[in-house]
Amino acid sequence: MRRNGYQVAVVGATGAVGEEMLRLFDERDFPISTLRVFASHRSVGQDVECGKKRILVEDLEKANLSGIEIALFSAGSKTAQHVAPRFVKAGAVVIDNSSAFRMDDDVPLIVPEVNAHALADYRKRRIIANPNCSTIQLVVALKPLHDAATVKRIVVSTYQAVSGAGRRAMDELSSQCVDLFNQRELKRTILPQQIAFNCFPQIGAFTDDGYTEEEIKMVNETKKIMSAPDIRVIATCVRVPIFCSHSEAVIVEFERSISVSEARERLMAAPGVAVVDNPEKGSYPMPIDATGKDATLVGRIRKDNTVPNGLAFWIVADNLRKGAALNAVQIAELLIEQDDFA
Ligand code: A2P
Repeated sequence: MRRNGYQVAVVGATGAVGEEMLRLFDERDFPISTLRVFASHRSVGQDVECGKKRILVEDLEKANLSGIEIALFSAGSKTAQHVAPRFVKAGAVVIDNSSAFRMDDDVPLIVPEVNAHALADYRKRRIIANPNCSTIQLVVALKPLHDAATVKRIVVSTYQAVSGAGRRAMDELSSQCVDLFNQRELKRTILPQQIAFNCFPQIGAFTDDGYTEEEIKMVNETKKIMSAPDIRVIATCVRVPIFCSHSEAVIVEFERSISVSEARERLMAAPGVAVVDNPEKGSYPMPIDATGKDATLVGRIRKDNTVPNGLAFWIVADNLRKGAALNAVQIAELLIEQDDFA
């Protein structure tokens, strides 16, 4: 039974995703009795905004965490690994946006539109993982098509915004643009290559077989969320010089035939999806249209004529919202809908 208010914490509240979480709490009227916020020691004593309230960032090392019921984390893997056990011990359920726990068998990896049924597994460790941003928008669009025709193979290329790498990466894109226009030397400290007027096929470190960590996350997380270990996935993840919203070019092969019109109808009826697909009139998903919105936009839906049952399409979603903060808040909403949660 939903109560009027829960004791909620945000860890990483000063970051790009943390700030979006606070905005969403206010926008969605999330039932909060007490809100506590944490970040690194650098931010202790600053305040952050949630609706009309300003909340002081607490010192994580010294804080008494008892009473906190739901803790949303977006402070990276190391912090999550280090700090989540303390929150759980104090009685909280942790919803973590990092990759720290995503592939643990006893931690559910949830996209509410796709696998809400798996949430109950949170009781094993009281940790729920929020998937990688690029994976979330992919599976939101794939689920209605998978239900209809069973996905066999996915080839996905991403065009990912810098906000996925955090606030400092956004600052780096801004300052590199300004430096370029002023003919000054560019500074690069956060991203692995110049991002202004450039794009590069590296998100995360390279693994021994030539893939990047981001590409491996897309492969493994898609299979886990869709409970479909046999789906074959190959990803190429590219960082592009835009601030917000990730785009994806997706080619999918299905077990059974699915027409473009059936796919369009199923996508139009799917939760969390908006079909934007009138290309002759210049209507297709773009980052500038997805930013600040909740929906995952799908367009350019067309037949892949190179295989018997193939479709190609283009997906865009706000990586800070559906790709991170919104999905985490939706998980928290799902959690409090479960009557025995307390
Ligand atoms: P801070 O702003 O004090 O560095 P982003 O992904 O946008 O860079 O945000 C990362 C978030 O994680 C920020 O709120 C950041 O706080 C926080 N953070 C980074 N390191 C730690 C840490 N060791 N403990 C708690 N929060 C951290």
